[in-house]
Amino acid sequence: MNYISQNNHLKKLLISTPSIPGWLSPKEGSFLYKKARKVPGNGVVVEIGSYCGKSTIFLGSGLRRNKLARFYAIDPHIGSPEKEGEYRNINTFPQFQDNIRKFGLEEKVIAIKKTSEEASENFLEKIDLLFIDGSHLEEDVKKDLKNWLPKVKKGGIVSVHDVTSLPGPWQIAKKNIFFSPSFKKIGLVGSILFATFDQSKSLTIKLKNRFLNFFSYLFVICYVRMRKMKKTISNFQTISKQFPRL
Ligand SMILES: C[S@@+](CC[C@H](N)C(=O)[O-])C[C@H]1O[C@@H](n2cnc3c(N)ncnc32)[C@H](O)[C@@H]1O
Repeated sequence: MNYISQNNHLKKLLISTPSIPGWLSPKEGSFLYKKARKVPGNGVVVEIGSYCGKSTIFLGSGLRRNKLARFYAIDPHIGSPEKEGEYRNINTFPQFQDNIRKFGLEEKVIAIKKTSEEASENFLEKIDLLFIDGSHLEEDVKKDLKNWLPKVKKGGIVSVHDVTSLPGPWQIAKKNIFFSPSFKKIGLVGSILFATFDQSKSLTIKLKNRFLNFFSYLFVICYVRMRKMKKTISNFQTISKQFPRL
């Protein structure tokens, strides 16, 4: 697929996915699609937390042409412990399956109807791209990273959703990604934090990673503060317009 048809494919996806329930923004969806497209032949992608399939569709569509790649979408589909009311006990599997079918991805997506912890116990493949968006409780995000990181290939990508919007993912990303020498090339798209897993044993490389990751941390903090300030100003402007001076 050339660049133009790839772009058209993504544009079509962005038009047809907004109706799918979920919290993933179009910018984040595009990011997942593009990262999945870069997964090598015979590569492995793991998604933790599929809900109704929005992120699954972006990742799966990015992998569609990669015939040998395997994509595992892990979710028990019984609701989230952190949620209140309607999201706490729901069966999202029928809607998930329906959406995967609508986008013609039933051959590409291997759904694992288990918790991330249960699924990790028997998972022996090495991962090229890991996307964590399951339970957002701090101890659960910690477990996800602890159980799945040893299965990521050297040079593989680890990405975590809601890092800048929820305290659980933020605390774990701070301790285990920003302040870790085992990651490099940290970036942020929407609220997805992503980084390259680097298992180098060299002390120089570890020091370099620590140093650069600390700057990424400072950059992300400044960026998020600015984003919040911009939002407050625009909210204030909207209120001023609603209540003009007499
Ligand atoms: C925020 S939603 C995922 C949204 C999805 N990635 C999307 O883009 O629409 C969180 C999902 O994580 C699932 N979940 C909760 N605890 C989990 C666990 N321990 N392991 C795997 N998935 C879990 C929930 O069932 C829920 O569907």
